[in-house]
Amino acid sequence: MQERTALGSKSRYEDRWTEAFEKIENEIVQNKKNLTEAIETYQKDKLRQSADNVFSRNLYKEIGLVSNPNQTPSKRLVVKNGNYAIASVDTTFNGDFLNVLVKIINEKREQIDYIVELGSGIGRHIFALADRLIPSQKQIEYFSCEYTDSGQEACKKLLKYSNEQKIHVEYFDYMNPDLSFLPKKKNYLFFTFHSIEQIPELKRAVIDEILKISDNCVCLHAEPVGWQYNKDLIKYREETQAGAWKQNQPFPKQKLSKLNRRLFKRYGLSFMKMSHRYGIELDKTDIDKPDKVSENAAKQSLERDYNTNLIPLLKTIESDGLIKIDSEMANIYGKKPFNPTTIITWHKLNS
Ligand SMILES: C[S@@+](CC[C@H](N)C(=O)[O-])C[C@H]1O[C@@H](n2cnc3c(N)ncnc32)[C@H](O)[C@@H]1O
Repeated sequence: MQERTALGSKSRYEDRWTEAFEKIENEIVQNKKNLTEAIETYQKDKLRQSADNVFSRNLYKEIGLVSNPNQTPSKRLVVKNGNYAIASVDTTFNGDFLNVLVKIINEKREQIDYIVELGSGIGRHIFALADRLIPSQKQIEYFSCEYTDSGQEACKKLLKYSNEQKIHVEYFDYMNPDLSFLPKKKNYLFFTFHSIEQIPELKRAVIDEILKISDNCVCLHAEPVGWQYNKDLIKYREETQAGAWKQNQPFPKQKLSKLNRRLFKRYGLSFMKMSHRYGIELDKTDIDKPDKVSENAAKQSLERDYNTNLIPLLKTIESDGLIKIDSEMANIYGKKPFNPTTIITWHKLNS
């Protein structure tokens, strides 16, 4: 993997969101599902696909999750409450994430005018949240803020299938943060879900912009940054170059791996052990344990050139007296076990 750039991330998602929209709309129109059900179906299909590649099959063999070579695995490796665990192949944890958000919102309901997601893709969380919060005593408006054209477009088109019409779709780029489209001096809940992950070094200006626009604000980040609590792993990330693992593989091995992947894709066959991608290590004895969760996540993060500084950045801003961190749930769950979600929440301190 080469160094991640804003444009590189954008191009990776442009096609994905167009395809997502088509599949979701098809579920709504052809299969008569409502928007939330259609989005859930799309995500489960994607998860089944991701469990069905040569790396996953090899890994499942290694950890005793034997799967029939001709069948999509019915179980998958996940992270749950900080440990590796085995779960049904289509476990999304969407409900768990929504429950955390809804709990915070309900506690602060009277103090929230706007809910904003940054890096929102097609707006799936905003749609699900709006569904859960209807009917309400207090009218809340939503902003789905996304970098890709296709993500914004899809969100606008899906709006006609939502019961909530006060959803605004806006352009947002973490690299040039500008929230001037938001009403000023209002009360906000901001959240991010695996979008800061795309930004190797988050600028302090993003948090400054959130603080500047809001009167009161609560913020929740659900991002794969649990390894950033470990100083040794931070050092390892600083000292190792993104893409190093792949580049360090001997050339013949790189070629053979490629051939193995092709063979698997076409015929479901595999002739070499491929369960140690990116240097990730795991065997049967690691299930139900937390020991390797952060280390493997740091390796995956390195290979993908994912975010390195969200936790240290928030701690610095807290020590500057601008925010108060309210809760931290490291590696709370992960539908993708090597990219597990950590939830950190904070609120603005008004002087
Ligand atoms: C893993 S997806 C998550 C999307 C959404 N939060 C969800 O959970 O469905 C990452 C998102 O980050 C967005 N993204 C990538 N680079 C960005 C940037 N520079 N500014 C804002 N968003 C960005 C992508 O376009 C994509 O929608």
